[in-house]
Amino acid sequence: METCILGIESSCDDTSAAVICNGKLYSNIINTQSIHFKYGGVVPELASRAHQQNIVLVVKEALEQAGKNIDQISAIAFTQGPGLLGSLLVGSSFAKGLAIAQDIPIIGINHLQGHIFAPFLREKDEDEFIPNFPFLCLLVSGGHTQLIIVKSYTTFEIIGSTIDDAAGEAFDKCAKVMNLGYPGGPLIDKYAKLGNPNKFQFSKPKIAGLNFSFSGLKTSFLYFLRDQIKDNKNFISDNLSDLCASIQSQIVDILLDKLLKAVKQTGIKNIAISGGVSANSCLRNKLTDLGLNNSWNLYIPKIKYTTDNAAMITLVAYHYFMEGRTDSLDIVSIAKLSSFS
Ligand code: KG4
Ligand code: ZN
Repeated sequence: METCILGIESSCDDTSAAVICNGKLYSNIINTQSIHFKYGGVVPELASRAHQQNIVLVVKEALEQAGKNIDQISAIAFTQGPGLLGSLLVGSSFAKGLAIAQDIPIIGINHLQGHIFAPFLREKDEDEFIPNFPFLCLLVSGGHTQLIIVKSYTTFEIIGSTIDDAAGEAFDKCAKVMNLGYPGGPLIDKYAKLGNPNKFQFSKPKIAGLNFSFSGLKTSFLYFLRDQIKDNKNFISDNLSDLCASIQSQIVDILLDKLLKAVKQTGIKNIAISGGVSANSCLRNKLTDLGLNNSWNLYIPKIKYTTDNAAMITLVAYHYFMEGRTDSLDIVSIAKLSSFS
């Protein structure tokens, strides 16, 4: 018998819906809200309003593209948190309403858990992929930077986290200082392609253990530019590629140093990366080299599943559903949801 789950992701500025049947992805519709671009960041109030405008059409399109009607759906999943509360509430309320109308269960999913499983998304014409557990996941997004031991679809241990900025935030803030657009990560990645990664050096964090820190690097980048601009007001445009390549390579080295340390500490050689920053070409290339040199088993997501999408939420929900785990209708959205359960 076919088990189909409809999932909704609305934690930030992407309204997304996906359908997964028997573990494979049938559709994944993403409406990225363009209204925020002119503000240089996400405006929460505008995000909730845009989710309300988009959600009916996005869900309808996900069902149509999957070739399924709502009566073929066994449960409705949604992102419970973390995220912007107003945005989360649009997704959860829509999921609850539709589930009541259809008399089917709901499943609330942690957004970060969704990211972790993005490398394992397979489309309907591909073979299903089951990871080797346990694996180590380097989760790098706009809001989070964590090292996680993933023991099963539903059990996790966080062994390292950022103590200040997330890796994506470091990319975005450094891009902002250079007056690039938002989000800055993909732009730094683009300009870095022609630059020299060893041209400029910025301060390295000295954090013990497996935690990360990016605020010192960001401040050192800011002060360096401020000093250089005193002598040459065109310093940024004259050196854009080298600046991007240098800051990118140093952010990536901070991430990979800790990953190497985590592998040594845990002995786990199944390694995944996920989250928006896992789209970064420097990170993907350096990780691939490290993996080859150290005989690691690498799980790297397709670029299209690195940033926010409902497919990853729905995949986790599918496994919860198969374990018989669903939520009651009084489940609440939690902006700072941190635990995995
Ligand atoms: O996972 P995500 O879509 O949203 C959160 O849950 O935070 O991640 C967004 C982050 C942004 O900070 C963006 O600049 C970064 O991912 N990002 C990148 C790249 N593509 C997206 N950072 C570096 N290089 C990229 N190619
Ligand atoms: Zn995300």
